[in-house]
Amino acid sequence: MDLLTVAQQRYTTKAYDADQTIPQKDLETLLEVLRLTPSSINIQPWHFLVISSDDAKERVTHAMTGGHAYNAPKILKSSHTIVFCTRTDVSDEYLKQLIEQDASIGRFRDASSKQTQADVRKGYVDQYRQSEGGVQRWMENQTFIALGEALFAAATLGIDATPIGGFDAETLDAEFNLTAQGLTSSVVLALGYRSEDDFNAKLPKSRLSKEQLFTVL
Ligand SMILES: Cc1cc2nc3c(=O)[nH]c(=O)nc-3n(C[C@H](O)[C@H](O)[C@H](O)COP(=O)(O)O)c2cc1C
Repeated sequence: MDLLTVAQQRYTTKAYDADQTIPQKDLETLLEVLRLTPSSINIQPWHFLVISSDDAKERVTHAMTGGHAYNAPKILKSSHTIVFCTRTDVSDEYLKQLIEQDASIGRFRDASSKQTQADVRKGYVDQYRQSEGGVQRWMENQTFIALGEALFAAATLGIDATPIGGFDAETLDAEFNLTAQGLTSSVVLALGYRSEDDFNAKLPKSRLSKEQLFTVL
């Protein structure tokens, strides 16, 4: 499928066929795409809970009650669900881990270029710390890049998907002990295969026009 067809045909799945499971190979491809997601100063501020068991799916739905209850069946009938988590802060220890990762892969020609990269990264983190929304909002923006990558990758692999912001993050954080790990849940992605009675599969895609969206200068 060419990329425009993928963009036109992907859609937010509202009902899943619980009997269909994503092949392991496709799941691994999807996770590798997530791992390769680009981020500002390569901060990689995310962690992904890959939910595959019925028990774990049920636990995710604890955060989908009340006004969010309509999202719970999507999780329960998904093949897999991914909880996109974001770090709540950037410690010096984490920055050191990143720079050592860069070094181990051979990105620096000498100790001085390694130090320069460490200083630049720290400078940006300090700058974002002072910005409105702070370092957490900046990091969460990166996590949503991963969501975009996953949506496109899933569609390319013929996997249906539902990005889900309709959940209670505090409940989900408590359910999976995320706060203690320095993480918070940012967005959830249900993955699988559409049920035949998914009303949304037949609806036309609604988007603003090119004229409204693009200013060519
Ligand atoms: C960050 C984000 C959060 C969303 N949250 C939900 C949600 O909680 N439940 C749901 O059914 N759809 C959710 N959606 C789906 C959007 O409503 C959908 O992407 C939009 O209407 C465009 O339609 P399409 O994805 O079918 O092209 C979410 C989408 C995004 C990107």
